[in-house]
Amino acid sequence: MDSLIGPYVRNIPLALAAAKLWALGIGRVHPPLERLGYSRSLMGLSIRNPIGLAAGLDRTGSLLKGTLRAGYGFTEVGSVTVRTLGMTVRNLSRARRQQTDLVVGVNIRSAPDKSEETVIANYITCLHELLPFADYIVLNLNAFISPEHSHRNSEWLERLLSAALNERDLFWQMCGKRIPLAIKFPLAAELSNVHRFLLQLCSEINLDGVVAVAPTALTEPHVCELIRGIKRIVGDVNIISVGGVGSADQVTARMEAGAAAVQVFSSVLKHGPYVSLRLLETLPTSTDTEVPA
Ligand SMILES: Cc1cc2nc3c(=O)[nH]c(=O)nc-3n(C[C@H](O)[C@H](O)[C@H](O)COP(=O)(O)O)c2cc1C
Repeated sequence: MDSLIGPYVRNIPLALAAAKLWALGIGRVHPPLERLGYSRSLMGLSIRNPIGLAAGLDRTGSLLKGTLRAGYGFTEVGSVTVRTLGMTVRNLSRARRQQTDLVVGVNIRSAPDKSEETVIANYITCLHELLPFADYIVLNLNAFISPEHSHRNSEWLERLLSAALNERDLFWQMCGKRIPLAIKFPLAAELSNVHRFLLQLCSEINLDGVVAVAPTALTEPHVCELIRGIKRIVGDVNIISVGGVGSADQVTARMEAGAAAVQVFSSVLKHGPYVSLRLLETLPTSTDTEVPA
């Protein structure tokens, strides 16, 4: 139970933001007009606009209706762990039956203080259970990426990613649906050897996306330079940029640098659920600018 409500109890702005999205979902309010002209492709999925809600707010998929009404193009439920898996599967299976327009990614993670095999098994259990309900899946590698990672860790990361791809491909063969797979990890001021190793691996094994978390201390031109560096390594793999996004200028700059979409988190805690619509108010539409996919 702790892992379900604990994060909200410990963080009042997080609880308030989640409550507002929830109320938006159940209320009889007329949502603001949807802003058209922003649809694009993200990892082969059609999104109605490039502003996504980052993982951490809707931890078990209970806020999808509010997130859709608030104007987001996509959302990332989670992070889901083996402990919150049952509740998430229940919520998502119900939501899927109602067919929303929202692209729903699911972000999965494992507690790091387990044996390497247990961590891989945890990721695969989550993946196995969630593949039928997710539009895309993100492996949150936050806890496993640090500059001091050794060669052994690189081998382990490779094993984890190929096990995840095998699981995804098995589902694809059995159900005929290919679910895009991405990884999420924190950036630093420079791309480290571990970053480069992971990004090259993504490109070699045909992963679909990278959710790159920019430290908030970096300036916007610095973040864009990092995105350009990532793009040079991953090529066609889609980049989702998150970290410090709060203005339409930032969204434009990051997409011009090579991001396929962006996600917001802290601005939603600060300014409320309609951040997406506010950003779209001044963002050029897809037809105004040609941005790299
Ligand atoms: C309170 C809090 C909880 C978060 N929980 C998660 C999580 O469960 N999984 C995840 O991948 N990221 C999580 N994040 C990270 C956000 O998704 C996002 O990547 C990060 O906050 C940077 O974006 P921002 O600068 O817009 O906040 C969390 C962040 C915060 C502040």
